[in-house]
Amino acid sequence: MLSPNPDEEIEDSRKDNRLLCRDEEWVNNPEARGSVGAPSNLTVGEPFPGNSSGGRTYCCQCAGIRGRGQVWGTPREVKGIHNRITVNGQYPGPTLEVRDGDTLAIKVMNSARYNVTIHWHGIRQIGTPWADGPEYVTQCPIQPGATYTYKFTIENQDGTLWWHAHSRWLRATVFGALIIYPKLGTSYPFAQPQLEIPILLGEWWNRDPIDVLRQATFTGAAPNISDAYTINGQPGDLYRCSSKDTVNFFVNSGDTVLLRIINAALNQQLFFTVANHRLTVVGADAAYTKPFSTRTLMLGPGQTTDVLFTADQTPGRYYVAARAYASAPNAPFDNTTATAVLEYKSAPCISNKGFLSKPNLPRLPAYNDSATATAFTTHFRSPSNVKVPTQIDENLFFTVGFGFFNCNPGPQCQGPNNTRFAASMNNVSFCTPKNDLLTPSILSGYTERLHHRLPSCSTNKFGSKVQIVLQDTAIFSVEDHPMHLHGYSFYVVGQGFGNFNPRRDTAKFNFIDPPKRNTIDVPVGGWAVIRFVADNPGVWLMHCHIDAHLTWGLAMAFAVENGAGELQSINPPPEDLPPC
Ligand code: C2O
Repeated sequence: MLSPNPDEEIEDSRKDNRLLCRDEEWVNNPEARGSVGAPSNLTVGEPFPGNSSGGRTYCCQCAGIRGRGQVWGTPREVKGIHNRITVNGQYPGPTLEVRDGDTLAIKVMNSARYNVTIHWHGIRQIGTPWADGPEYVTQCPIQPGATYTYKFTIENQDGTLWWHAHSRWLRATVFGALIIYPKLGTSYPFAQPQLEIPILLGEWWNRDPIDVLRQATFTGAAPNISDAYTINGQPGDLYRCSSKDTVNFFVNSGDTVLLRIINAALNQQLFFTVANHRLTVVGADAAYTKPFSTRTLMLGPGQTTDVLFTADQTPGRYYVAARAYASAPNAPFDNTTATAVLEYKSAPCISNKGFLSKPNLPRLPAYNDSATATAFTTHFRSPSNVKVPTQIDENLFFTVGFGFFNCNPGPQCQGPNNTRFAASMNNVSFCTPKNDLLTPSILSGYTERLHHRLPSCSTNKFGSKVQIVLQDTAIFSVEDHPMHLHGYSFYVVGQGFGNFNPRRDTAKFNFIDPPKRNTIDVPVGGWAVIRFVADNPGVWLMHCHIDAHLTWGLAMAFAVENGAGELQSINPPPEDLPPC
């Protein structure tokens, strides 16, 4: 229900939550506000630090803030913070800050009650597929009480990546930023910004997400939509009583700021914007891009985007906001809006009252604004000319999309018309093996066997040049799918709407400066074509990064065989690789 005068309502309901003017120490000293570190021990499972004994709570029973006309969605109460699985007790988890060339050893201790694995999203893991993380593909999960040390080297990658759980839906709360700085002595291809801020967009369920998953798996219906989106762990002012915990970013007038934005949401593409400030995109998925200017970003789950902006507006407070890009017609989605506040340190207090001013609200595109999403995603280019593989050895065509299993009416067939939802690539739903691993087949050279066990597996010789056409289908409904490939970055040489037509569309491929990504949004009802050289042996998942779709089987595996040369084989498995 929209109120007749939404602006006023926001004003009113915020009266009780007004923020006092800040003291200088608090504004200027990040330590005073709590900061992140780069621990090498991650403990999964410490309780969320939010019970009444202190820490942050999302809250409860008080007058709600209503939606604001066209721009803001309907708020829902956001509450419930107990029994969430987190890392080192933090949500989001700790930020890892490293350099290109670093070798990392990150010990993960599982003190949760679920099996868990951690995936370092976007890291190539050359020679070390054992550290990639997807359960039963590269490792068996770390069982409760057990420990596994992920060891890998970062080779010629820098920018913004992230890490997350890769087992069931644990990544809803088990994720964090992985920031890779350029090698010592080198720098960004742009002037050093005065400030860098990681921004993690998350998705929050008041229920335990594992219960949401269980229910969906039982009923065969779509999982419940989330109750909130979060920015660095907080939903912000537009949800009931969250405003005193809203995240604030402090800037000096004139500063250039680098935002490292990560869409860690489980199931939703998100638009993102900063009120009154123009953003210049400079990178995505840890690859630099030709800079381009935009007001709004769209990120599929899994994707990262680095933007620069200058704090050149009237000193004040401005909202940073994220909300859904929902491309599937008629499918329910969480239509709430997460906010944080960008605050100039010199923002005046309304001094006679002693309160901070109300932040400016940005305009966000309509939820189904595919035109804005497409205008944004088709802007990406590599910074200079690149070497795209041309003579293709493997030309693969994969449909991606939803389907159904027919079943007998009953509690387990609650999908549309007594069915169960399914999703597939080339009409095969991926089934994760239950208690053994796929990766050892690379060592034994028995990759052919993978085919028998796993119809949705493609075997590639080392060094083969691969093209994949990803084609969205419409058995149930078309939808934009963020497709992620493990172990590789690829060039996106073309994308478009409708059915891919090799004759017409190939002629328009960009072989000059196509963007390099690890996750590509296949346009709603459309196609995307990617190319890469299969120079990293291992078994690598390719899947939709919407976990609901992954659960239904929208995944496949690539087995890339060892090469003959030196450094063209995977390392033997580490001794502490968890047993199944
Ligand atoms: Cu970021 Cu297979 O995932």
